[in-house]
Amino acid sequence: MGAKILSGKQLAQEMREEMKQETLALKEKYNIIPGLAVILVGEDPASVSYVTGKRKACANIGIYSREENHPADMSEEKLLSLIKKLNNDPKIHGILVQLPLPDHIDETKILYAINPDKDVDGFHPFNVGKMMIGEDTFYPCTPHGIQQLLVRNDIPIASSHIVIVGRSNLVGKPLAAMLMQKKEHANATITVCHTRTKDIGYFTRQADIVVAAIGRPNTITEEMVSEGVVVIDVGVNRVEDSSKERGYRLVGDVDFEKIGQKASAITPVPGGVGPMTITMLLHNTIKSAKRHIR
Ligand code: GUN
Repeated sequence: MGAKILSGKQLAQEMREEMKQETLALKEKYNIIPGLAVILVGEDPASVSYVTGKRKACANIGIYSREENHPADMSEEKLLSLIKKLNNDPKIHGILVQLPLPDHIDETKILYAINPDKDVDGFHPFNVGKMMIGEDTFYPCTPHGIQQLLVRNDIPIASSHIVIVGRSNLVGKPLAAMLMQKKEHANATITVCHTRTKDIGYFTRQADIVVAAIGRPNTITEEMVSEGVVVIDVGVNRVEDSSKERGYRLVGDVDFEKIGQKASAITPVPGGVGPMTITMLLHNTIKSAKRHIR
């Protein structure tokens, strides 16, 4: 393994230590306790595990969290009225609806219903628009976490060619928008590849930084990257593994072992981007609570 391991786990710990001090100060000086509501509809195992991670992280740094767990057949109407209630709850500074939602619920309609001032995921079209034009807003957590991981490991973003593989609303699209801005920690040249790209390797071989956000194991292989590349692996895939007690292990979207020999730096899975996503959610919740200082 020649590459430097970019540990999101370690960086997340450092950042959460700082946040713990921040929530303490908010409580002591202003009697404000940041509050986050996490809504989960259904029992998708990956979503349950994400939500559990978010709850623990909140408790750890002094954020009040409220879990709203509802059955998979919850009606859209009921979900909308729950969001409305939380929009008006002064204890709640952030509302997160865990995605994906069951098919009978219109995701866009739900995202529009969240008060943009409490949209700590940064998914409300109003906040997406603000991000696009370079205004301060709640930045979506995974792209923001990736940006922080690069910045705090002194990996140059400005003037770098960053090739993002994946065009989702959660990761690919917002990451492209954030890193191309004419502002600090951005100014990159961006290429976005996706399922209809003819030859992904043609583009990734030209990259200084490759971001893999595809959702399929081993999609980015050794011959698709150049010597010295920086690789950010956003994938979280469960693959069967009978040697594990739970029957599976987590792997990313890149061939970690082989690319690790060629890259200058690479994120592990788990322990790379994942902990940074949760950290930026905590950051947004504190940011929202701080708007109540007077
Ligand atoms: N599902 C997968 N990642 C996320 C995320 O960052 N936020 C929400 N709300 N749902 C997700």
